[in-house]
Amino acid sequence: MEIQSDFLVIGSGIAGFCFAIKAATRGTVAIVTKKEQIESSTNYAQGGIAAVTGEKDSFESHINDTLTTGAGICNENVARFVVTEGPDRIKELIEWGVEFSLTEINRSTVFDLGREGGHSHRRVLHAKDITGREIERALTAKAATENNITIFENHFAINLILASTVTGVEQKHDRCVGAYVFDVNNGVVHTFKASFIILATGGAGKVYLVTTNPDIATGDGIAMAYRAGAQIANMEFIQFHPTCLYHPEAKSFLISEAVRGEGGVLKLKSGREFMDKYHTMKSLAPRDVVARAIDMELKKSGDESVFLDITHKGRDFLTRRFPTIYDRCLEFGFDMAQDMIPVVPAAHYICGGIFVNAYGETTINRLLACGEVACTGLHGANRLASNSLLEAVVFAHRAFIRVSGLLPGIKDESLAIPPWDPKGATESDESVVVSHNWDEVRSSMWNYVGIVRTNKRLERARRRIDLITQEIMEYYWNFKITRDLLELRNIATVAKLIIECAQQRKESRGLHYNLDYPRRDDTEWRRNTIIQKKRT
Ligand code: FAD
Ligand code: SIN
Repeated sequence: MEIQSDFLVIGSGIAGFCFAIKAATRGTVAIVTKKEQIESSTNYAQGGIAAVTGEKDSFESHINDTLTTGAGICNENVARFVVTEGPDRIKELIEWGVEFSLTEINRSTVFDLGREGGHSHRRVLHAKDITGREIERALTAKAATENNITIFENHFAINLILASTVTGVEQKHDRCVGAYVFDVNNGVVHTFKASFIILATGGAGKVYLVTTNPDIATGDGIAMAYRAGAQIANMEFIQFHPTCLYHPEAKSFLISEAVRGEGGVLKLKSGREFMDKYHTMKSLAPRDVVARAIDMELKKSGDESVFLDITHKGRDFLTRRFPTIYDRCLEFGFDMAQDMIPVVPAAHYICGGIFVNAYGETTINRLLACGEVACTGLHGANRLASNSLLEAVVFAHRAFIRVSGLLPGIKDESLAIPPWDPKGATESDESVVVSHNWDEVRSSMWNYVGIVRTNKRLERARRRIDLITQEIMEYYWNFKITRDLLELRNIATVAKLIIECAQQRKESRGLHYNLDYPRRDDTEWRRNTIIQKKRT
């Protein structure tokens, strides 16, 4: 089947929905999303969205916190417009139905602002501890009222389609014309054509064995854009969140940094605090510092986790401010009001991604990217907490402004796109190969490309990923596609890109820490790491 629209949006998290809701005022929008529409990292966001709304806060302060955390390679212009445009985007979210938590101060009702690592003011708007669920609820409801939006659930985008591949004519400035999309329930591949294609596929936490991310976070958008020839940047900067609940049955449950923002303190098993040795902001230091400190303490002690202690705040406060986290911990036998919670660092966020300009445009014409999939320059070498949801709403708006200016000038230039070619693939009787390779990619990345890296570990990881990639390519071309197989190909590609960038950067900065180059080198490395597939 061929489906044509003005805009093809791939992904239904905050970035995809915010773009789609606006674009629907200008033309038809198809949203493809690989599971149910709410399934996204957005839906699991806890802490909130950073924006300057408090009386004592200022744009300059938020900009400075962003730049300081980013360790010298943020794009200051981007930080400036994201922070200053933030409050307008927040107003829009509220108009669309998002309900942020409020409080009373001096008999007036104001936002109940949270605090997180690296922020010098309380500035994080939240909906208790389920901010993402509240945002996703409001956005899905709003999108459902827009006649111009059609949502295709369980539709998995496989590859982007370029004008040059359709016409067979090599083009200096290639143009994206659509995507091949796997209809998972019916086992067929459809062709989606559009004037503009927006990648909003989120992050890639599943590349690592231990992650806070949901299963959808397999870096598909980054892998697709790379295969299509777009520039990719700063993939070495993987943010490890310091406090993921440590319990064998608790799959990926985050304990929000907001818990430390409200006074939670990191401790060793003995009950001794340790963050004062590492940073003046102690437990609320930027995430790279806290995650490295925990890693170091765990290696020293041989313990399986460190602990987060917020018992002093009392049950009343905890059940009111963190009802979901409180209940989840209780399910696993930890009462936050009485017990220290065991926590470990886990892969959480990818600061790098598809390199875009200030309007979300990639280096391929008519292909835009926003949200976690993009590298905008806002985060530099380390993201300031709760700046991700903010970046997504600001860039979705800017991408909309850009394409709504361009759309009227686009003539009907419909190309005859050939249908997906399955190349005689047959049913696989060896699905076990796929799951083994999944495990191997994830453990290699966890063991060799984690919080602390060395040249040797990176090289070891590269050799393993190269081998797996070769196996996948043989497998991929021989057997019928499945979601697992497509995701495996993508996590292997993203793993390769992370290693390649990490090997290029011969210094330590922000989230990239290499024992062979332990110092920051501003003369040589105060810049992005850019990679691009060579044309064959
Ligand atoms: P997502 O919300 O991840 O959406 C991606 C969408 O793309 C999904 O619908 C997915 O199914 C779809 N998709 C992916 N691949 C394909 C494909 N091949 N075909 C079709 N569809 C596809 N950030 C903050 O700023 N504040 C927080 O408090 C916060 N808390 C967090 C807590 C957790 C547990 C996690 C995991 C992240 C948190 N983050 C937070 C980060 C933030 O939630 C994400 O960076 C942000 O939500 C990303 O939004 P997005 O729209 O780019 O992607
Ligand atoms: C958290 O609530 O700790 C996550 C915030 C973020 O990742 O920005």
